[in-house]
Amino acid sequence: MDNAPIGVFDSGVGGLTVVREIMEQLPGEALIYFGDTARVPYGNKSEETVVRYSAQIIKFLLSKGAKTIVIACNTASAVALEKMKEMFEVPIIGVVKPGAKAAAEVTKNGKIGVIGTEATIRSGIYNDFLRKTDPHVTVYGKACPLFVPLVEEGWLEEDTITEQVARRYLAGFCGQEIDTLVLGCTHYPLLRSVIQKVVGDKVRLVNPAVETTRELKYLLEENHLLNESAGAGESYAAAGKEVLPRHEFFVSDRAEKFKQFAAGILPSVVLRQENIGVEIFE
Ligand code: DGL
Repeated sequence: MDNAPIGVFDSGVGGLTVVREIMEQLPGEALIYFGDTARVPYGNKSEETVVRYSAQIIKFLLSKGAKTIVIACNTASAVALEKMKEMFEVPIIGVVKPGAKAAAEVTKNGKIGVIGTEATIRSGIYNDFLRKTDPHVTVYGKACPLFVPLVEEGWLEEDTITEQVARRYLAGFCGQEIDTLVLGCTHYPLLRSVIQKVVGDKVRLVNPAVETTRELKYLLEENHLLNESAGAGESYAAAGKEVLPRHEFFVSDRAEKFKQFAAGILPSVVLRQENIGVEIFE
């Protein structure tokens, strides 16, 4: 069982920022990824819909032998995690709680900004977790829905339009004196430098994927599911692709576009050896 893959899913391509982090921190673990590219975005859908999609995808990942599930999507983590934990017996982790924990550890002045999709910000979940960790913090949330299509269009760091959009969304934080900003959406780490430029160097940016992966490791250990050979990460990398863990990627539409996007995010050796399948639910 510990050799079984970790199932990871997202509404589309953005969850690859979480995959990248897992590959780095847990290099011996095999992954099976599902990106719901036919139904993205989740960020403007109702809670019931996101819950239904999440359950379908988890069933699919379990049918492929996943030993544990990472909900890489902030929106699905925000609105569906608790229901998924009730529905399924495998260990399931989302990205919101770890992201909030990391932000609470980083802040010095207790003023924290959170950016995410409309659904994530509307759920108020980052605020709830942060204030549970420390009731004295003040949380300022801002939905930034245009960031997702900008990233998918590849208009990243050096793009003037992306910078203008970022300035418009983030202007409200300037008067709040936040010292920490949570990148509460899978796509936003890919806009890291433009966001940093706009909010200034004094604001620490928190990518929830980093802490999520740390907590994933504890979860695997606790459930005796950690692939023990995973400790030899560097020798895996050094030894070449024959002994790299086997990863599988599935999307619900446009596998070729997904592959192109993934090529900009994941190590090339990973994508050279993988096929990307298409799986449709409805
Ligand atoms: N993956 C989503 C998230 O992290 C962003 C894209 C979407 O709206 O589906 O919230």
